[in-house]
Amino acid sequence: MKIAVMDNEYQSFEHDVLVIGAGGAGLRAAIEASAAGVSVGLVCKSLLGKAHTVMAEGGMAASLANVDDRDDWTVHFADTMRGGQYLNSWRMAELHAREAPARARELEAWGAVFDRTKDGRILQRNFGGHKYPRLAHVGDRTGLEMIRTLQDHGVHQGIDVHMECTVVELLKDGDRVVGAFGYDRERGRFQLFKARAVVLATGGIGRAYKVTSNSWEYTGDGHALAYRAGAELMDMEFVQFHPTGMVWPPSVRGILVTEGVRGEGGVLRNSDGKRFMFEDIPELYRSSTATDEEEGWRYTQGDKQANRPPELLTRDHVARCIVREVKEGRGSPHGGVFLDIAWIKKRLPNGAEHIRKKLPSMYHQFKQLAGIDITEEPMEVGPTTHYVMGGVRVDPDSQMSTVPGLFAAGECAAGLHGANRLGGNSLSDLLVFGQRAGQYAAEFAKEQTAAKPAQDQVDAAARDALAPFGRAGGDAEGPYQVQYDLQDMMQSQVGIVRTEEDMQKAIDAFEGLRARAERVGVQGNREYNAGWHTALDLRNLLMVSEAVARSAILRKESRGAHFREDYLEKDAGQGRVNTVIRRGDEGGMQVTQEPIPEIRADLQQIIEDNR
Ligand code: FUM
Repeated sequence: MKIAVMDNEYQSFEHDVLVIGAGGAGLRAAIEASAAGVSVGLVCKSLLGKAHTVMAEGGMAASLANVDDRDDWTVHFADTMRGGQYLNSWRMAELHAREAPARARELEAWGAVFDRTKDGRILQRNFGGHKYPRLAHVGDRTGLEMIRTLQDHGVHQGIDVHMECTVVELLKDGDRVVGAFGYDRERGRFQLFKARAVVLATGGIGRAYKVTSNSWEYTGDGHALAYRAGAELMDMEFVQFHPTGMVWPPSVRGILVTEGVRGEGGVLRNSDGKRFMFEDIPELYRSSTATDEEEGWRYTQGDKQANRPPELLTRDHVARCIVREVKEGRGSPHGGVFLDIAWIKKRLPNGAEHIRKKLPSMYHQFKQLAGIDITEEPMEVGPTTHYVMGGVRVDPDSQMSTVPGLFAAGECAAGLHGANRLGGNSLSDLLVFGQRAGQYAAEFAKEQTAAKPAQDQVDAAARDALAPFGRAGGDAEGPYQVQYDLQDMMQSQVGIVRTEEDMQKAIDAFEGLRARAERVGVQGNREYNAGWHTALDLRNLLMVSEAVARSAILRKESRGAHFREDYLEKDAGQGRVNTVIRRGDEGGMQVTQEPIPEIRADLQQIIEDNR
């Protein structure tokens, strides 16, 4: 049952399940909860359909075995664990690998138009860290097709969509989460959502960094809402820097260049024209990586005996090799390296046409934004903040957080990817765990009595949200400079290469940044006030940034996406713990390390069999 009431202070809505975030995970959760017969509200920060999911361009990983019949869920599971350097929740990795094929087929049944093999099955391509061609794709627009399909399917199910709404606080009744409080960005009116269960699907934290593939919405809202509501976060030190973002011109720096380019045979070269990725092959991948160019090319052409080209090593490693080339003076003119797909014209008849067909978005992106024809010239690329492996700690099966009634799925949840996510595993993640979160949230909601958020919580959330208006003038500062200073600091001190000294400087700086954020003032009224929105996002950005820095300083080793110049090696002890963040009783951030639950023997055997 749902009621919408308007009074002087706020609009009020009631749903059984409230889903916050309308990318792939949120849409899939909303569809599942609605199909279970409960009323569902879906909140999106911008317009429906605009989500970071579309930035997973190259495909969705699922062991359909359409291109290589040696693939199955066990190999996908082993690849995911190896890519995550064994910090993953093994149960989530198992569920993900087992259930991804069914979720891909379901998406196809709902209307997704995947590229096809010659015999009419879903086509799959190569991606970093996946042993076999595993990524079901739609050219280089897979995420977009996924969102379109889920949206089409969802709107016919009676889901109530609340667009352009930012949630600023979760509401509780005792220990349980019973709703959320937010505002509509267009008019600035407050909105109260009562719910029996809440699913967070807000995506990542990319806007904590200066160079990112994430758009303005990704300010760590779900992470921060959960933390303030008492939930635990896990493994926040692991931030993924996708190796290939655009570097030039400056206005487009950070925009994603899909890994699909390398999956289709694109190679990385330095300013000497050398394929530098051959130089440093990590131990974990030594037996399965090509040692010469010819072998790598044969692999991309489907030779089952050949090993993968080194450009298809995991993202953490490729990003670090690019940083090394640039640092040692072998970079491209604008601080990146060269990504060359045009070279395949030497090997393939109709090469240019092939490139335009396989990578239509990349072709247009470079043509329009950089004036480069990728069928003729190499692209300039460099790492861009793309994804956070850390997030809300959840039960692997149900996706419920450590707070009753609060669920999380997709990028804002932790566990599946461990220390580094394999490309393509995010689209399958958000379908598998979006479905699960929707199912379990609906079950939970059915067992609850009506939700009762306390009025004092609502009043406090409204007061806090309006505070920046009272601070214009005097020693008040605008929000943009504080946001910029934070992004600048995170980029340089808690970025791809980390040291104790840099991270400590960042941690020391948070107090000052928080004090500045508390003095941030905005002018004007509540109607579409971008300064006000930025001021409210700042609190979340600061919280998630501090979580990243404090987790990173505690992990004294290099593993996956977390690379420390002062601890270059992996540490066996650290390889057995997750980092956990909680809000202390005094409001301070508590960071601890906790042992990873012992892996089931049959799953350990699968890992051994696939080494
Ligand atoms: O490169 C890409 O297409 C991104 C995929 C992903 O992040 O999974």
